[in-house]
Amino acid sequence: MKILALETSCDETSAAVVKDGKEILSNVVASQVEFHRKYGGIVPEIASRKHIEVINPIIKEALDKANITFKEIDAVAVTYGPGLVGSLLVGICAAKAIAWSLGKPLIGVNHLEGHIYANFLNSKSEILNPKSRFAGSRNTLEYNNNEAGQIQNSKSQIPKFPFVCLLVSGGHTLLILVEEHGKYRTLGRTRDDAAGEAFDKIARFLGIGYPGGPIIDKMAKEGNPRAVEFKRPMLEKEYGYDFSFSGIKTAVVNQIRNQKPVTSNQIADLVASFQQAIVDVLVEKSIRAAKEYRCKAIALAGGVSANSALRRELVARAEKENIAVHIPPVEYCTDNAAMIGCSAYYELKANQISDFRLSPVASLKLG
Ligand code: KG4
Ligand code: ZN
Repeated sequence: MKILALETSCDETSAAVVKDGKEILSNVVASQVEFHRKYGGIVPEIASRKHIEVINPIIKEALDKANITFKEIDAVAVTYGPGLVGSLLVGICAAKAIAWSLGKPLIGVNHLEGHIYANFLNSKSEILNPKSRFAGSRNTLEYNNNEAGQIQNSKSQIPKFPFVCLLVSGGHTLLILVEEHGKYRTLGRTRDDAAGEAFDKIARFLGIGYPGGPIIDKMAKEGNPRAVEFKRPMLEKEYGYDFSFSGIKTAVVNQIRNQKPVTSNQIADLVASFQQAIVDVLVEKSIRAAKEYRCKAIALAGGVSANSALRRELVARAEKENIAVHIPPVEYCTDNAAMIGCSAYYELKANQISDFRLSPVASLKLG
């Protein structure tokens, strides 16, 4: 079963060919980040125009890399929301045209579901776990200790149901209980900024570049995460699993205005403290949810999963609770079409096929 998948919900144009819901035959991603950088954020009009320019060559490249022709495709999958309407429309129109002309099924995929399914791809994703957990218990897989003393599986392994998925990107911050294929419960979401958005906005305010997440991650390594004490928002039980990041963002902005950090050390301390506040909240709520819902695994998804402090601290906390942490390789954490092809495979298996009236849904929800 070979699925051609398209993803154009935001500022990445991507096409992939995925076999049997797990094997990535190709995954081509064209990032537009250079075109949006000077604006410090994504300009929707530019995004949709750029998608139109590159979608056809990207599809061709994905087929060529997979070494197949259109005729060998069994189904066409495409993201239909959430995202920017003008961007989504480009992928949807292309997918419809291909599916229609080939007489193959069209499968509309929820982008958020796609992010979760990045954890089901055969992509040498990491399972980070206490060594003791595996001792003698899973002899079908070979585990190699990596430098950090963590365990990395040499073959792909998918999270066991039920698991908690922390989906953190530039547009979303969600804590999801994944009970089985296609069965999700959103436990909490951000009430204002997404985690990645907070990183991007602080970086923009400091004038240190775009996108802010990777830049702050790198700078924070030189700083003291305890230098400035920012409040950890909404950790009290009454807020459940919701998040809020705009308060931290304002506190950081006020700190910058009052203290005027000028040296690279001062800026490093500030961004390290900001990052630590965000990571503490994400980790605490993920662990709490896994324990409450008796999950033995936490899966990460979305661009912010690339954050080194988040990975390190989630793994450290999970280890103490005997919970496995699944983290797809960075290229499958950020927007890509392979995750859409993977999600579509399970929809096709459940006979969930779209009709040709499929339209973009900008604020599509999960479940
Ligand atoms: O999933 P993604 O590629 O796109 C969507 O937003 O859907 O995520 C992009 C976001 C940006 O906000 C970027 O700053 C953030 O992920 N990001 C990071 C890191 N790498 C990317 N945030 C924190 N630390 C990182 N290392
Ligand atoms: Zn995304």
